[in-house]
Amino acid sequence: MSRVLRSPRPPSANVDDTGQRAGSPGAPNGVRILFIGDLVGALGKRTLFDCLPLLRERHDPTFVVVNAENVAGGIGITPKAAKELFARGVDVITLGNHAYRRREIYPYMEEERRILRPANYLVTQPGRGACVVESESGVRLGVINLSGNLYLRAAHPAFTEIELAISGLGEVDHILVDMHAEATSEKVGLGWHLDGRVTAVVGTHTHVPTADARVLPGGTAYITDVGMTGPRGGVIGVRREQAIQSLRSQMPVRFDTSEEDPWLMGVLIASSQPLRADSIEQILMPRPEAPGDPRVAG
Ligand SMILES: [Fe+2]
Ligand SMILES: [Fe+2]
Repeated sequence: MSRVLRSPRPPSANVDDTGQRAGSPGAPNGVRILFIGDLVGALGKRTLFDCLPLLRERHDPTFVVVNAENVAGGIGITPKAAKELFARGVDVITLGNHAYRRREIYPYMEEERRILRPANYLVTQPGRGACVVESESGVRLGVINLSGNLYLRAAHPAFTEIELAISGLGEVDHILVDMHAEATSEKVGLGWHLDGRVTAVVGTHTHVPTADARVLPGGTAYITDVGMTGPRGGVIGVRREQAIQSLRSQMPVRFDTSEEDPWLMGVLIASSQPLRADSIEQILMPRPEAPGDPRVAG
């Protein structure tokens, strides 16, 4: 759990004589950022809530950041869902191309600074693309949400807008960038572009986890796509028979969220120095089976 910061601190604040921030990433126990891929539907949310206590026990994350652009019935997010996530200790919510599918979220995005839509959208579009949160131990994390420009609609190029977003954060200990993009090339390119300047670049949107998680030579943790948290038994979240019917018939088909085989997909980034990662660990985890759960029977 963290609190949101509304204004940058003066540069000299809380820095010891080694140049490290006191009690933050230079400290021996370091910082751990748990980032969770796109929550799909109510099942995705329940899967997160069922997995989170275990993940907290196992990894003791300093920050939890969740992409939730599909949490409301598979498309968009509502204020109710966002508040539920914050109440469970999620520090920052990122979004993507489905950010504006629910109108009721627009005023909430203006008032709640910890819910982000891509920073490279128009300034006239509701919400904002970056925020800074601070842990109880005083570690400041800047989070930036970006959209790719290939096959997705974003007003400004991600590669130029990211410079403005980084400089707008002020003084922070760590920066996490969620690059919500369709094309792997844009995500790989952004990872290299920001290597050594941010703690982590994580990709979202395709709902399929990639096998390339690594710390780049300059110290930035990177993965092309974290994957989704939701039904692995569908087609990127949609009931598979509906998706297959659509692909076969080439006709409009109603899509519902699949309820089969829920998994949590995320990454854990560990760090012992500012703006650099020591490791990135992929987390692929089935939803724990509850007593009485029909999946346990037989
Ligand atoms: Fe998504
Ligand atoms: Fe998306």
